Amino acid sequence: MSRIIEQGGTIPAPPVRTSSAFSIDKDKLIRGIYRISTFLTAPSSVEDILGKILDEVVDSMGFDRGIILLLDEARENLYTRVVKNYSEEEARRAFSVHLNLKKHDSFETRVAKTGHYIALEDSETDPRTTETDRKISAFYKRGSTFYAPLKIEEDVIGIIAVWTKEKSRFSPDEIEILLTFANQVSIIIHITRLFEINREKIDQLLILQEAVSGLNSTYSIERIHEILIRSALRIAKAEKALIYFLDIEKNRVFINDGERGFIDDRNEYGDRVGRTIIRRAMDSDAITVRQPGGEEDDAVPLYEGYPCEVAIPLKVKDRFKGVLLLGMRAGVYSRDQINVLDILVNNAATSYDSAIMHSMLSIEAKSLKTEVEKLKEREDFLLGFHNILGKSKKMVGIFHVIEEVAKHDTNILIQGESGTGKELVSRAIHRQSQRHEKRFVDVNCAAIPGTLLESELFGYEAGAFTDARKRKIGLLEYASGGTLFLDEIGDMSLPLQAKFLRMLEDGYIRRLGGNESIPVDVRFIFATNRDLSKMVAEGSFREDLFYRISVVPIILPPLRERGDDLLLLARNYLEEFNRKFNKKVKGFTKEAEEILRRYSWPGNVRELKNIIERIMILRDVGRFITPENIPAEIKASAAQDPVVQLDELLPLTSASDRIDYKQAVDRLTGKIKGRILSRALQLSGGNKTKAARLLNISRYALIRELKKAGKEAETVT
Ligand SMILES: Nc1ncnc2c1ncn2[C@@H]1O[C@H](COP(=O)(O)OP(=O)(O)OP(=O)(O)O)[C@@H](O)[C@H]1O
Ligand SMILES: [Mg+2]
Repeated sequence: MSRIIEQGGTIPAPPVRTSSAFSIDKDKLIRGIYRISTFLTAPSSVEDILGKILDEVVDSMGFDRGIILLLDEARENLYTRVVKNYSEEEARRAFSVHLNLKKHDSFETRVAKTGHYIALEDSETDPRTTETDRKISAFYKRGSTFYAPLKIEEDVIGIIAVWTKEKSRFSPDEIEILLTFANQVSIIIHITRLFEINREKIDQLLILQEAVSGLNSTYSIERIHEILIRSALRIAKAEKALIYFLDIEKNRVFINDGERGFIDDRNEYGDRVGRTIIRRAMDSDAITVRQPGGEEDDAVPLYEGYPCEVAIPLKVKDRFKGVLLLGMRAGVYSRDQINVLDILVNNAATSYDSAIMHSMLSIEAKSLKTEVEKLKEREDFLLGFHNILGKSKKMVGIFHVIEEVAKHDTNILIQGESGTGKELVSRAIHRQSQRHEKRFVDVNCAAIPGTLLESELFGYEAGAFTDARKRKIGLLEYASGGTLFLDEIGDMSLPLQAKFLRMLEDGYIRRLGGNESIPVDVRFIFATNRDLSKMVAEGSFREDLFYRISVVPIILPPLRERGDDLLLLARNYLEEFNRKFNKKVKGFTKEAEEILRRYSWPGNVRELKNIIERIMILRDVGRFITPENIPAEIKASAAQDPVVQLDELLPLTSASDRIDYKQAVDRLTGKIKGRILSRALQLSGGNKTKAARLLNISRYALIRELKKAGKEAETVT
């Protein structure tokens, strides 16, 4: 009893109740406390526990309604945490306003400040009732009320208040029980709250960690906005967010509200922002909190209906000044939340910094790159293209064609002698095309027998023929999306040519033994070293297929027609084999170069490559490759120079010889003329008119020349 009087220090003695409006069942209450304390063993939120406490006290003691308010960390404001038997409107009000211990004078704030209980028989007539109380009680229609402090030792953490509608006095017994109950539940609330604070802290730190690692791995400003907004909302448990950036130099505003980002040239937000805590946070460079009835209450909330705000300054370089604003309908931002948000925002600022740097650098890099690309392009055309070496006019022309045709899906026919680089070019086209990330499939039609080639290309269903146990996907399907290179197309059998043409025309294939039409999405490149037009004339290649595949013909020149490319390639292979065989050969002597140049290279680049490799492996090469290093057959063949041959025809071999100059010249020129004429007749199949056309002379002139040559030939032999 004495304890109660001490605690209820503001009232001399509790009034003795005459008629009991409610009856307290002590045992029931103790069981209630026991039940509440068992919640501690299972993880539950402060709200849950507070709700159960309020249920116990209101129900078991026969009160009509109740409320629990807790003090914030600063011990300045009382916030409603749970209510019981409040109407929706009453609850909304109770949760949206908080009571400030300094500003508001009410029973609630007085109990929180003093730590003493207040028992009130009639809140309307009691002399201690203040203006604030009257407002509150008028609204809540109170009868008799009991306010008890929630305390840990002398430290008040909140209050609990319970009402009856009817007016009645509280007996000392009842007061004692209520206060004991309040003391017991205070400990429970305190412990649960500690748990909750820790859990929240851990949650916040986890969100922070995830956000920071996201921020560190991006240079995209959009992504930084996204991470910042999403994480901040989660940390603060807020509902609204806005990133506001002012470009001080250009006096422009960038805004991102989590849904869209825009430049606010027309000041859509301009006027509003001026009256919100965004401006205040920016001006003071300090974290600013707005709470209804609390600090910065005079600032206008940015989002209507979200009056609880925090604004955190965001400084990016000297040029941009920004703020992250968060808003919620009700509630407070804890010290922990604000600290974590501050760390988050600082990290975001660093990321904005690097992203801006990066984008400035990449703009610079882009202009640099175009320069580099131009140079590279020039170099490509000087030296080659996609590993295809060549700077002769013919090859540069081919590089341009490759570049042009690669863009389109047209069929390409590459013709050229063996070893001129047909496969190399086809790969270059694929690499240069939009299909470069898909497959490049090559098939050599000469290497696969006819029927097998058909099933290789078209595939087959299980059971299509004796050996077909499982379904097989053909190369036409396998290459889907990519490029199919059909080498030695001239070797494809006539029946397969017919089938292939149908596929090209329809754009569909059917596997052997199958019915399903499968669309073909393939770019075709064909190659051959045979003369397809001649084959068409002879009837061994279908004319319609020929026209279909040679939409863009590319004719690779033989090496002997590529001028200086020969030495370019020779030096390139020399370097390659220097690396491969670990040698330090510097180049070719003039004489060696001369021999290479004179040789006709029937095997073209492949042959050149092989010869250089042979020289580098087998020969005892010194610093330079000399004629001695070059294989004998190359030298012999190179010696078949027309001038050299004529030398052999010369009758003048020693100082003692005498010849008739005019006769000797006539004989030699006659021989040359005769060779030219017989070659022309050979090519025209003996037809003199055609042969004359080949030589660009009249038929008559041809006959005359033939006669002369015949006589001369006769005199020679
Ligand atoms: N212009 C070039 N620059 C560099 N290397 C080349 C060039 N042309 C051909 N080569 C090389 O020569 C060799 C033969 O080239 P590729 O296989 O492409 O010739 P091909 O025309 O397909 O010959 P074939 O008709 O005999 O199949 C390859 O090693 C290739 O790298
Ligand atoms: Mg080839």
